[in-house]
Amino acid sequence: MVPPTLPGLPFFGNSIRYLRDPLGFLRETASRHGDVVRVSIGPLKMTLVSHPELVESVLVTHNRLWQKDRFMRVLRPVLGDGLLSSEGDFWRRQRRLAQPAFHRDRIAAYGSIMVGHAARLANQWRHDEVRDVHKDMMRLTLEIVAETLFGAQVGDHAEDVGEALDAVLKVVADPMEVFVPILKRLPTPQRRRFDRAIAKLDSILYGVFEQRRKSGAPETGDLLSMLVNAQDDDGTRMSDQQLRDECMTLFLAGHETTALNLSWTWLLLSQHPDIDAKLARELHDVLGDRPATFADLPNLRYTGHVIAESLRLYPPAWSLGREAREDVDLGGYHVPRGGQVWFCPWAIQRDPRWFDDPDAFRPERWEGDLAKKLPRYAYFPFGGGPRFCIGQAFAQMEAVLLLATLARSFHVEVLPKPRVVPFASVTLRPKHGLRVRLTRRG
Ligand code: HEM
Repeated sequence: MVPPTLPGLPFFGNSIRYLRDPLGFLRETASRHGDVVRVSIGPLKMTLVSHPELVESVLVTHNRLWQKDRFMRVLRPVLGDGLLSSEGDFWRRQRRLAQPAFHRDRIAAYGSIMVGHAARLANQWRHDEVRDVHKDMMRLTLEIVAETLFGAQVGDHAEDVGEALDAVLKVVADPMEVFVPILKRLPTPQRRRFDRAIAKLDSILYGVFEQRRKSGAPETGDLLSMLVNAQDDDGTRMSDQQLRDECMTLFLAGHETTALNLSWTWLLLSQHPDIDAKLARELHDVLGDRPATFADLPNLRYTGHVIAESLRLYPPAWSLGREAREDVDLGGYHVPRGGQVWFCPWAIQRDPRWFDDPDAFRPERWEGDLAKKLPRYAYFPFGGGPRFCIGQAFAQMEAVLLLATLARSFHVEVLPKPRVVPFASVTLRPKHGLRVRLTRRG
């Protein structure tokens, strides 16, 4: 059976409504037109899939029938054949090589680096000061990725890396780049900045690899040393090009997403003083006046629920997609080879069929056994199946430790202007940043 098609305009299809408000459009389409609907954004035809069982079928049960979608191709010039964008046996081998670097025991060692960076930021914050807290979170998570993944040498370049990544993200996040591919070939000023930024990032990374190799690639404990030393069963190691693609991927995938998770959490806490107060009580009871550590994580339960609920309402990876490798029957609907399916965690995680009062920020909902009762893919901020986020445990630990360290000392109030607008780019961002006033807790 062919899926129902959402009516639209000739040529433009549903583009105008989509571009005006992507999040509203996808949520409304899912709730009014059912769990499988074909939409067209300009020349692109996509099947919007909004039922957790069908998400599971694509990501998990029948994952071999699917590959990453065409949006991922926009990221290819940046990420090359890194973990996020590669496919098939090559991806499987890279994932196997990288996996040990993300083992729980391994990342536990990064807890103190994370808290150290957050404590330095807390020391810079002043009572009654107005700041863009999203900028702070971007800088903080970048410093942490740089130091934990690549070691202090890259950490020292954090400023340069931050600027270069900014220029790169401006291009890959531009919807025109996705929908008007010819732009990629025009030497616009934005494109020239992009090329310069990639060259800068490459030169920093290749410089670090060279230093590592010269010093015999010792096991320094950071992820890069694990990747440099990682060997496949047949003894092969990653080439410099592979290392570069993996590092660029980890830089991009590993810092903005966590920064966004925290920025949206500050917004939600600012809008819910009762929840902010309950969080402050937990931090006071568990930590008193000392900094958080990895060992505190099991006791920071409410802090963890605040983060989980923030990821439900504002998933940084707000949409995911796949392309059919062959003709597929998806829940009785025909998806032809090359067909694009699209899932929107933003819409599914706010679906009243799975969540009571779905737009309400209620960390308490995670206190019972909700996670066990939900259909598995009603909540999937880190994706699922073999391609699930390799950095999930790293990100969850980081978010809790940073929030605990900063919120222990400060209350953050988001200012009414500029109005906070969620902007659905590659990731879900606050369009104009997040201007806040800080109050030191008594
Ligand atoms: C709150 C923070 C994060 C969120 C919401 C998030 C979300 C996701 C999602 C949804 C995917 C799956 C994409 C797909 O199926 O198409 C993914 C994959 C990935 N993430 Fe994350 N991520 C976060 C943090 C991180 C961190 C900290 C790292 C690295 C340190 C990281 C590295 C990756 C990589 C390498 C992949 C590709 C994995 C593969 O295909 O094998 N992410 N992430």
